[in-house]
Amino acid sequence: MRSLIDIPELSVEEIDQLLKTACDISENPEKYQNKLKNKKLATLFFEPSTRTRLSFEAAMLELGGSVIGFSSADSSSASKGESMADTAKVISCYADIAAIRHPKEGAPYVASINASIPVINAGDGGHCHPTQTLADLLTIYREKGRLSNLKVGFCGDLKYGRTVHSLLSALSRYENISIVLISPEELKLPGYVRREVLEAKNMDFVQTDSLEDSLNDLDILYMTRIQQERFADYEEYLRLKDSYVLDTKKLELAKSDLCILHPLPRVNEISVAVDKDPRACYFKQVMNGKLMRMALMLKLLTENRSDSADTCCEGETVEDLYCANPRCISTTEQELPQKFKLSDDKAVYRCIYCDHKATKKEEK
Ligand code: CP
Repeated sequence: MRSLIDIPELSVEEIDQLLKTACDISENPEKYQNKLKNKKLATLFFEPSTRTRLSFEAAMLELGGSVIGFSSADSSSASKGESMADTAKVISCYADIAAIRHPKEGAPYVASINASIPVINAGDGGHCHPTQTLADLLTIYREKGRLSNLKVGFCGDLKYGRTVHSLLSALSRYENISIVLISPEELKLPGYVRREVLEAKNMDFVQTDSLEDSLNDLDILYMTRIQQERFADYEEYLRLKDSYVLDTKKLELAKSDLCILHPLPRVNEISVAVDKDPRACYFKQVMNGKLMRMALMLKLLTENRSDSADTCCEGETVEDLYCANPRCISTTEQELPQKFKLSDDKAVYRCIYCDHKATKKEEK
């Protein structure tokens, strides 16, 4: 049994294989229509979603399987206080695979170590969203024919944008990727992502607050929504929400073969008039999301692997450390042991659930 919680769990070879499978599904859908006959997907969505939940469900149906699940925390026993661990054990009795979205960072990971079926992270707080990244990679691959030698701009909310963190992590494994990070000061990429992804992999990157100044030589522009639901201060959200609007006038500054991506939903950061521009690829990205989720479920349900079973013992208890991230699942599920692992550069301890840097107890 194998789960997918974050993109680094997939090797580059595995991602390449998923891309190939997704392309084959697109060209020969009839070959796949019974591949997951009698398999059941559970979609456990504790936070709103249109694309991710429906594309997972469409993906399983098109593979011949069936779907059970719920679309909000209110309609599950989580509203009565049931823990993520218990929910995962229960769903293992009913389904063969689960896709979980949760506002708490690390919730799908907690589910994966308690479930006896594969768990796919369908987005956890501001942490990561690996299947969106698979959709992004397939779109780039289909539009550009490659995943290397690209200049990629990320624009908008780079602080809370989990899709940005996951895609940067994926791109860091390909050759000659140059990154332009475009955001207001308040929504800059978190330091740990910058250090542990961009700097650790010696990636070429710049940070700026100007979209106009960055457009002219980008191959890919990844626009993002300023996410109201992640702000503690509503006034700050109002001040930042219209920081960037991509319109047809600004696009005159860009290359003719620019590929514009957006994980969606959009609010007003891409004007509707841009949709008619052949460079707008965000609705193709939605279709690619379904194809990659089909490829991923096929892989997780048909490959014989057991390498993520009982990862409960991962990490260590460190006497004077705790996780101070208010969005971490360990803050609401009191029975979870506070556990930490050393970062790749061995410089700091990170929470095993949400990846945030551990805090010393006297700093409380
Ligand atoms: N991109 C994405 O995750 O969209 P939903 O929130 O609609 O699932």
